[in-house]
This record gives sequence, C-alpha cells and structure tokens, in this order.
Amino acid sequence: MQKVEIMPQLTDLAHAAVSKVVHKGDVVVDATVGNGHDTTFLSELVGTEGRVLAFDIQSVAIKQALERLRNSGHQNVTWFAMDHAHLAEVLQEEGISEVKAVMFNLGYLPGGDHEIVTRIDSTLKAIHAGLQALIVNGVMTILAYIGHPGGLDEAEAIETFLNKLNPEFYETQFDYGNSPKSPRLLIVKKTADERR
Ligand SMILES: C[S@@+](CC[C@H](N)C(=O)[O-])C[C@H]1O[C@@H](n2cnc3c(N)ncnc32)[C@H](O)[C@@H]1O
Repeated sequence: MQKVEIMPQLTDLAHAAVSKVVHKGDVVVDATVGNGHDTTFLSELVGTEGRVLAFDIQSVAIKQALERLRNSGHQNVTWFAMDHAHLAEVLQEEGISEVKAVMFNLGYLPGGDHEIVTRIDSTLKAIHAGLQALIVNGVMTILAYIGHPGGLDEAEAIETFLNKLNPEFYETQFDYGNSPKSPRLLIVKKTADERR
C-alpha cells in the first residue's frame, strides 16, 4: 500500500497553537482580518463571554468578515478599520492590559487589491505591541507569505526581530513549510513576564 503523507496546512498549525492556550472568556486579537477566517475561528474559541479585537486597514475586508460572522451568532468581535500599528493605543483606549493570543496573517487580501499589503514598519510595531500585551502562556502566531514583492523582506525582518527576543521570557518556533516558496509560520509564546 502506498503511504500518503498529509502535510497539515500552516493555517491549521496556527489555529492548533492558539487553541492550546485560548479558552472561553479570553481576550484575543486578529491583527489582519482579511476574509475573516481567523476572526471567525477566534470568535468561536472565546465564546460569548470573550472578546476579539479585529483589525484590517481595508474596510472592505471588515465588511466581508462581518457578514461571515453574522451567521455565527456571536457578538464578541470589535472591529477596527485601521492600521494594526495602532494596536497599543487601541488596547489602552479599550482598557485592556492583557490578551491571550494575537494572530497575524500577512500579505494582501485574497481576491482584493494586491497593492495593499502589510509592511515591515507597521507589522513590527504591531508585533511589538502584541508581545507587550501578551499574558504569560499567551501565544502570537504570524503567517508570513514570501511570494509577493516585499514579502520575503518582511518575513526576514520579523525573524530578525523575534530572534532578538530574550529567551528568558519568550519561546519562538519557526516553521518554513515544505518548499522554499512556502509561507512561514512564526509562533511566539510568552513564558514569563518581562515587566517583573
Ligand atoms: C492575507 S490577508 C488576512 C487573511 C485573514 N486572516 C483570513 O483569515 O482570511 C491580509 C490582510 O491584511 C490587511 N492589512 C494590510 N496591511 C495592514 C495593516 N497595516 N493593518 C491591518 N491590516 C492590514 C489586508 O488588507 C488584508 O486583508
């Protein structure tokens, strides 16, 4: 019998990493709503008592995702049609000091304008803010695509940033998929509170 290797999708691996730590009632962030798959996943995971803060720079993405979420029945998502670089200010305005998970799915909106892509400066600012807000044992997942212009530079800049994190407080895991063109899944877990 022929053995068939089934490679799990990196999006499934990101969801698995988040599922391990996120429970009903938690506060989480979707930093790149896009078509709303991750927002829907997070909304179901945290349930009615939880909260999802969902960002996308394009209001068209937010509108589509809102439609998708309408069917799920949950009212636990707060939408921010803005650059996720403002994550720190938004968390402060919302009175949120800690979050359990932050998900990034970088690049452009599938089926949308390919010129509107995540960019190094704002991505790094949002990652920094997300890591600051992450509760101990919380997790950040970053899915970085390298096939579009600027994608590889963005992925490498993030990896450089993550490699400088203090291993006393953060555990990192990089998954490069199964081909040189595969997206890269970067996972960061906060293991201790650096503010103490
Ligand atoms: C690959 S899609 C996300 C896919 C999504 N997570 C899903 O489950 O369908 C990337 C999204 O990032 C958004 N984006 C680009 N730059 C952004 C920024 N600076 N802040 C927030 N969102 C941004 C794009 O508009 C696009 O919708």
